[in-house]
Parts: sequence; C-alpha cells; structure tokens
Amino acid sequence: MPRIVKLHPTGPIKIEPGSLPADKPTWICACGLSKKMPFCDGSHKITRQEQPGMVYVYSQDGQTVVETRPDDSPGAGPAPTGGA
Ligand code: FES
Repeated sequence: MPRIVKLHPTGPIKIEPGSLPADKPTWICACGLSKKMPFCDGSHKITRQEQPGMVYVYSQDGQTVVETRPDDSPGAGPAPTGGA
C-alpha cells in the first residue's frame, strides 16, 4: 500500500562511523512516517490498517490518515470493494 507523506529535507542525513551500536540491529525507516529519520521510531504501526489497492495520505505529524483513494498506478492491485 503506497502512502504519501510530506518531507522537508532536501539532502541526506549523515551517519558517522561508530555512531551506531555495533552489537545491536539498527532499523532504518522505510515507511516514511518516522519522526526520527532515518531511523524507525515505531510510527509504521499505523500502516497496519492500510488495504491493498489504496493510496494513503497522512497528516503532517503522520498520526492521521487524511485521505484515501484507489491506487491507479501501474502494477497496483485492485481497490477493495465494500464487502458482502
Ligand atoms: S518503518 Fe517507518 S517508522 Fe518504522
């Protein structure tokens, strides 16, 4: 399920060698909703409600879905129907 988030940075985030714990895994955000980019902060949990075939637009703080619409991009699956 794709989502649209508004990001303001226009460049990379530098990670200095040795700044991460060598003995623990480090999770990099892939959902776009973390408030501690580039690291995962658990904000991705809100995406568990997302359905295949839909695009989700999140509020600036990433806490609320403000819009959903069918995903009409190439390769997108069918949008869910209203049920039986
Ligand atoms: S993957 Fe984005 S907050 Fe966890």
